[in-house]
Amino acid sequence: NTAGSEAAKRAAGEAAAAAVSDGDRVGLGTGSTAAHAVRRLGERVADGLDVEAVATSYQSRALAREVGVPLLDLADVARVDVAVDGADQVAAGANALVKGGGAAHAREKVVAATADRFLVVADDSKLADGLDYPVPVEVLPDALARVERAVVDAGGDPTLRAAERKDGPVVTDNGNLVLDCDFGTVAEPGALARTLSDTAGVVEHGLFVGLADAVYVGDADGDVSVRE
Ligand code: A5P
Repeated sequence: NTAGSEAAKRAAGEAAAAAVSDGDRVGLGTGSTAAHAVRRLGERVADGLDVEAVATSYQSRALAREVGVPLLDLADVARVDVAVDGADQVAAGANALVKGGGAAHAREKVVAATADRFLVVADDSKLADGLDYPVPVEVLPDALARVERAVVDAGGDPTLRAAERKDGPVVTDNGNLVLDCDFGTVAEPGALARTLSDTAGVVEHGLFVGLADAVYVGDADGDVSVRE
């Protein structure tokens, strides 16, 4: 996402990285805002901070390696102390987010749910009264037609996400497809989340309801407010 200012993203990411403590196991989010947190964590590791991390995507694993944050395999980790991740849209006042603009939301949700504290980092352009960002739905390829139909039945308009520099669709890190599903403004995120989760063939969707413990919101002046 390129809409928000880089200063705002950096401020939010670095403030959340400061909340990581010595000895923590840390979940590393995906996207341009979480990347600022990972880079700051790398600086803190170079200064002696002792942490181990799990990555939410190919991208966050590569960045962690580049900046020297030690990694564990997510498949071996049943709990982490704190996870820091971005969002595509944050409903102000409700504990609900849309994630998955980078198609990483399945592992991101596993890490968020595995974390004692899930810290969301966002620039202030991500805040909205209601969630109207199209909900990314990761779909088992063989279930594409039935999930498209189920999304329409649930009041949504699904679009298969296309790859940018390749003919054909985006394929996730897990080998699946992504439907971006426009539901207009989602009146009840919790109910829609349950409907999508109950649909056979849906691997994971990008509605994160009741998972965030704090939202770090940065602005273009580099100021950060923390909503708990
Ligand atoms: C990845 O799939 C997403 O959930 C990202 O966390 C989200 O798109 C935020 O990315 P930016 O920080 O780059 O906007």
